[in-house]
Amino acid sequence: MWSGRFREPLDPAFESWQRSFPFDVRLLPQEVAASKAHARAIAAAGILSATELATMLDGLDRVIPFALEEASKSLGGDAAWGSSTASAVLAAAPAIVALHPEAEDIHHFVELMLTKIIGELALKLHTGRSRNEQIATDMRLFVRDAIDQTLRGLLSWRGALVDQARAAGETVMPSYTHLQRAEPVLVAHWLLAYVSMLERDFSRLEDCRARLNVCPLGSGAIAGATLALDRTIAAEALGFDVPTANSMDATSDRDFALDFTQALATLGLHISRFAEELTLHSTAEFGFLDLPERFSTGSSAMPQKKNPDLTELIRGKAGRLQGAAVTLATIVKGLPLAYNKDLQEGQEPVFDAADTISGILSVLPEFTRALHFRADAMQAAAEKGYLNAMAAATYLTHKGVPFRKAHEKIGQAVRLGLETGRELGELSLEELRSFGEEFGAGFFDAITLEATLDCHDVIGGTARGRVRDAIEDASRRIASDTASIASKKSAKLGLERNALV
Ligand code: ARG
Repeated sequence: MWSGRFREPLDPAFESWQRSFPFDVRLLPQEVAASKAHARAIAAAGILSATELATMLDGLDRVIPFALEEASKSLGGDAAWGSSTASAVLAAAPAIVALHPEAEDIHHFVELMLTKIIGELALKLHTGRSRNEQIATDMRLFVRDAIDQTLRGLLSWRGALVDQARAAGETVMPSYTHLQRAEPVLVAHWLLAYVSMLERDFSRLEDCRARLNVCPLGSGAIAGATLALDRTIAAEALGFDVPTANSMDATSDRDFALDFTQALATLGLHISRFAEELTLHSTAEFGFLDLPERFSTGSSAMPQKKNPDLTELIRGKAGRLQGAAVTLATIVKGLPLAYNKDLQEGQEPVFDAADTISGILSVLPEFTRALHFRADAMQAAAEKGYLNAMAAATYLTHKGVPFRKAHEKIGQAVRLGLETGRELGELSLEELRSFGEEFGAGFFDAITLEATLDCHDVIGGTARGRVRDAIEDASRRIASDTASIASKKSAKLGLERNALV
């Protein structure tokens, strides 16, 4: 690919160590798509005739089937690869790599294959382009596809949470601050807290997608292509909005990968908090939750155990997502413009983050749907421990007592309750009046479980009517987000189906 100016062969250990083909092989669909787009651009610039272009496009279309066929033969001829192009390439990757020790990276590999398929004409493909812009393009295509997949997974998880919220009806649970019981809330309200987080994750990923959708092809090695290419041809062919604005930035920019991994790191935090809560809730100590058996495991030692492996593993994988974001940021930090080989090292964290989130979202929505809450235990926990004390103090404020005073009086009532083993509702009016004459018969109605919920009648509060509305709002946003991802241009390009260009 570049040996012309060299007199010495590469050190064999260095040669194999610096190769990226073992991991960038998975960019094969993206590299083929980007190569087809570039072929169209150089044909328009007069480098390829119409027949040459047709031959080249046809040859590029044959690269993946050719590589899969070759890989299959090397394994005895009957390997059945995945159903989509992307999954087939992933399954065949080790065999493809083993068959091509001569390929330095995915760019080199596609040229080698194309040369095998269409001969010398293949050598014209690299006219007016550089691997620096190619890898920047392939990675953008990869991340765009990974974002679309993640958005679909997030929608499915949001749907599961909202369905559970609807099914929970008026089931009540204690809420916690400092992991101490605070106030009663609807289970639906708690579930919708996660929906709010996921809506932010969704919009972060959509923002990232909108920003990344520009095409580096035509940027050359650093200073721009040396041919007068119409850069809009490749951009359009690949479903990008426009060509990138600056060739130095385009070839060295990895913000899109940083945005992606950082958005996944934050999503990972949310997933991990959910996982932690469910892990806690499923303990005998809480007893709020029956773990679905088909998503739990037993212990090989203790026959009675049902372990929350799914939530634990998810909590662990969230750590990996943090790691990917940090690795990538550390690689990019301090790199002089423009392309540096360090950037090659930034591919694997992106792949790992994409695979990790795809794995998590392959189980989390179904797991969420299978959750079975123990409404009785949750309600019992919400009814004990003076969780209505805020509502009680609020009752007094409606009687004109300043909140600080009301707080103190209810505090005294709680103290009496603690000393005599009773809840606020079990104290007599007479006893209560000893703390203030504002206590009236209406006090007991103001501190029932329902009244305690419904006094939080504000936007975003846990009053029953508010939560009913919030469920409908969340459903509507799922519907509009579903429509929004269906309209994305490249969703129709279907990289995974190799229908690009
Ligand atoms: N494999 C390389 C990477 O992933 C492709 C770009 C190589 N460019 C270069 N000038 N050596 O970064």
